[in-house]
Amino acid sequence: MNVRDKVNRERRLLVHLLLRSVLSVHLALALWGCAVANQQPRPAKPIASPRPSVSTETNERSSDRIDRLASEPYSGSLSIFEDPKREDRLQVNRVMDVLGIKAGSSVADVGAGSGWFTVRAAKRVGSNGLVYAVEINSEYLKHIDKRSKEENLSNIRTILGKEDDPLLPEKSVDAVLLLKTYHEISEPVRWLRRMRSAMREGALLGIIDRTGKGDDHGIDPDTVVKEAQRAGFVLVEQHDFVRPDEVDYFLVFRVG
Ligand SMILES: C[S@@+](CC[C@H](N)C(=O)[O-])C[C@H]1O[C@@H](n2cnc3c(N)ncnc32)[C@H](O)[C@@H]1O
Repeated sequence: MNVRDKVNRERRLLVHLLLRSVLSVHLALALWGCAVANQQPRPAKPIASPRPSVSTETNERSSDRIDRLASEPYSGSLSIFEDPKREDRLQVNRVMDVLGIKAGSSVADVGAGSGWFTVRAAKRVGSNGLVYAVEINSEYLKHIDKRSKEENLSNIRTILGKEDDPLLPEKSVDAVLLLKTYHEISEPVRWLRRMRSAMREGALLGIIDRTGKGDDHGIDPDTVVKEAQRAGFVLVEQHDFVRPDEVDYFLVFRVG
């Protein structure tokens, strides 16, 4: 073999080696690519379509949220609600007249506390009527149960409600009173929407409260009216005869 042949042979060998290494690099890259592809997250499984924001008239809607604070629910001694002068200061019989509460009516006292209003309403509606005492504080409900027995009032039913739901039966009441309670309800629009379904045709909802900012144990009447309207209520009457009981207004609504 002459020198020229030797050079040509070495060149061919070099080209062969070069081609082999290029092929190896390609193969390695292809394998790496597959490995990386296998690590990619799998396409997400199709998920159930989101719940409609409103499925019925009383279900929750995201627009039901409020952009204000509410007061901490009262959890102290119940004796503060039992001032003997309160009956006259609040003119409780006039309050019941305005709400159309009479013998045989079905009434809800929401945020019943000691049951101060519950027992008065129970006496007025009599044995053919019913009063639901709704509370989120189960200790207060025990107190009301005991009180009903002591006062021989068998037409009182206690209900442990939720912050955003009075949990009253459908179409069960002719009148509802929230006495110094509205400012403590943290989800009032949602609560009111659920309250609507418990109200019978022509039922009235009374709200007695004092003016405030929501988190100071009071709430402006204008705010209450706007929130009630959002939940489908219509303001029908407004009174200020309750003022002497350290409360400023009495609003009356019906379902719109
Ligand atoms: C200031 S007290 C008024 C008690 C009573 N209404 C009275 O004036 O004699 C307010 C009551 O409302 C109750 N409360 C607060 N939020 C409530 C809600 N979402 N549903 C039912 N009761 C509620 C509290 O537990 C508390 O007993």
